[in-house]
Amino acid sequence: MEEKLDTSEVMNFNNLNSENKVVIDSNEEIWNKETYNAWVNRFGTPEEAAERISKNPEGLLSILHSKFGDVRGKKIMNLMGSNGNKAVALALLGAQVTVVDFSEGNKSYALDLAKAAGVKIEYIVSDVLKLPKEQLSSNYDIVFAEMGILHYFTDLAPFMNVIYELIDKKGIALIRDFHPISTKLISSRGSTAKVRKHKVTGDYFDTSLEEKDVSYHKYSENDEPKKVFLRRWTLGEIVTSVAASGLVIKSLEEEPNLSSEVFDKGIPKTFTIVAEKSL
Ligand SMILES: C[S@@+](CC[C@H](N)C(=O)[O-])C[C@H]1O[C@@H](n2cnc3c(N)ncnc32)[C@H](O)[C@@H]1O
Repeated sequence: MEEKLDTSEVMNFNNLNSENKVVIDSNEEIWNKETYNAWVNRFGTPEEAAERISKNPEGLLSILHSKFGDVRGKKIMNLMGSNGNKAVALALLGAQVTVVDFSEGNKSYALDLAKAAGVKIEYIVSDVLKLPKEQLSSNYDIVFAEMGILHYFTDLAPFMNVIYELIDKKGIALIRDFHPISTKLISSRGSTAKVRKHKVTGDYFDTSLEEKDVSYHKYSENDEPKKVFLRRWTLGEIVTSVAASGLVIKSLEEEPNLSSEVFDKGIPKTFTIVAEKSL
């Protein structure tokens, strides 16, 4: 049984400090621990992972590849880019990539991965909401963040504003994340398509913070799971926050399970928003 936090208590505390502060400070400390070893357990050593990525960087990028097109010479920012596997794949395709993430362990793995792949990436260890002014340079051709990111914020506006500040006036922003129908509404059981059953058990409009095991825990050797606090947003809240930042939404695509035609067929699993800067 997952324990729910009383949102009002946390939000009030947030109000006494800066926006998002309580949740981000506690999540940051947790992400900084154990991560390097967890990535080795998950993807192999940086050398092993680099060999795999180098064979098919386009494959690793999946939908990002079709959205970005030819990235040669493009200046790309990957916000909350974790272990750097997307950044390294893009660098292998000729892009100039910067990652921002607040985990030192992620940075170490990402830089070792880049070195093993024979490419350079820039990795800034920082809270995305506290990037130094000179970094908010409005000169990135592409700014993207994806797969398990929006739930770390108790307010989406500051994050969308950072994206707005980073992209060039002709650049594009891409936000890809897990679909709220899957994360907020539906619970599923059964490990094969034949026996799999789905139930509507969640409250789509629930605004409380959820305490969860940190996502890399399943690859960690530490028995005691670290916890993070998550705010699960509805699709309407996400789209509205992108539009409120001044970005112009070009597309919102909802995606099925891309790794199987039959497993969880008919259920939206991820979504991708592509936006541009308004002129
Ligand atoms: C689930 S991962 C994102 C997945 C990643 N895009 C990938 O392809 O592997 C979430 C990342 O966000 C980072 N993170 C969470 N909150 C952050 C914040 N406020 N500022 C910077 N990084 C943050 C964590 O360190 C973690 O690496």
